[in-house]
Amino acid sequence: MSKPLAIVTGGGRGIGRGIVIELSRTHHVIATYRGNREAAQSLADEVGCEITQSDISSAEDRAALIDLARERSPHLDLLVNNAGIAPRERADILDAREEIFDEVLGTNLKGPYFLTQMAARWMKDSGRGRIAFVTSISSFTASVNRGEYCISKAGLSMAVALFASRLAEHGVKVFEIQPGIIRTDMIAKVEQIYEEKIANGLLPQRRMGEAVDVAKAVRAVADGLLDYSTGQVLHVDGGFHLRSL
Ligand SMILES: NC(=O)c1ccc[n+]([C@@H]2O[C@H](COP(=O)([O-])OP(=O)(O)OC[C@H]3O[C@@H](n4cnc5c(N)ncnc54)[C@H](OP(=O)(O)O)[C@@H]3O)[C@@H](O)[C@H]2O)c1
Repeated sequence: MSKPLAIVTGGGRGIGRGIVIELSRTHHVIATYRGNREAAQSLADEVGCEITQSDISSAEDRAALIDLARERSPHLDLLVNNAGIAPRERADILDAREEIFDEVLGTNLKGPYFLTQMAARWMKDSGRGRIAFVTSISSFTASVNRGEYCISKAGLSMAVALFASRLAEHGVKVFEIQPGIIRTDMIAKVEQIYEEKIANGLLPQRRMGEAVDVAKAVRAVADGLLDYSTGQVLHVDGGFHLRSL
């Protein structure tokens, strides 16, 4: 294979789809999906990426994904940990259920943590590679009606610091891409509320983000423009993280 190899988890829809469209210009991309094959297939038809069904919360599926990637190339150039879910029910932390906690943590934190462990061993042997984690402003913003989500993303931010520290000497760079409010299916139910908040000044840059905004940050990582950095947080949030008085 002449093109560099990239894996993008949850690549069929939303932010992941934007990332796959961008990366497919230069990389052979393996995009994973969980249940929505139709969306993934239409993306493959559009940009020529490879798609595979793989549930990030399943150890078996993660191992099969890495096996598939190893069949494609001796090196993994880029792993983008994008797949993630919001809790299927929003509940106050005083009422929230353990089952939902396990579901969200399994997909948003345990899955990418252990997929990265496998990818990292491979990259360490090659002496190169780049890893991007898609976290969220929820890593540092408390939303008491989706505590599991916030905890999963805060944990993922620490995973970035851990893998960045561990892999630096092996030439592997690790980045945190921290989106704010991005227009996808995930926020569809609350899109109107967010639009109103943005119009009223929630974000210094007064517009909602789009998948392509996040894809551009991944492009910078993929092209090595940030190679004397690691563990870096790239805020893609219209300035949400800024404090002002
Ligand atoms: N939208 C935002 O405002 C926002 C803000 C900050 C961070 N994020 C983060 O950005 C990432 C992408 O979110 P999005 O807004 O693009 O969400 P989305 O539109 O709901 O898409 C989620 C993607 O993740 C995949 N996925 C879900 N569970 C999976 C699993 N167990 N295994 C493998 N793939 C799975 C889905 O696959 P199927 O298509 O097969 O269902 C889909 O491709 C998430 O990590 C999210 O937390 C989003």
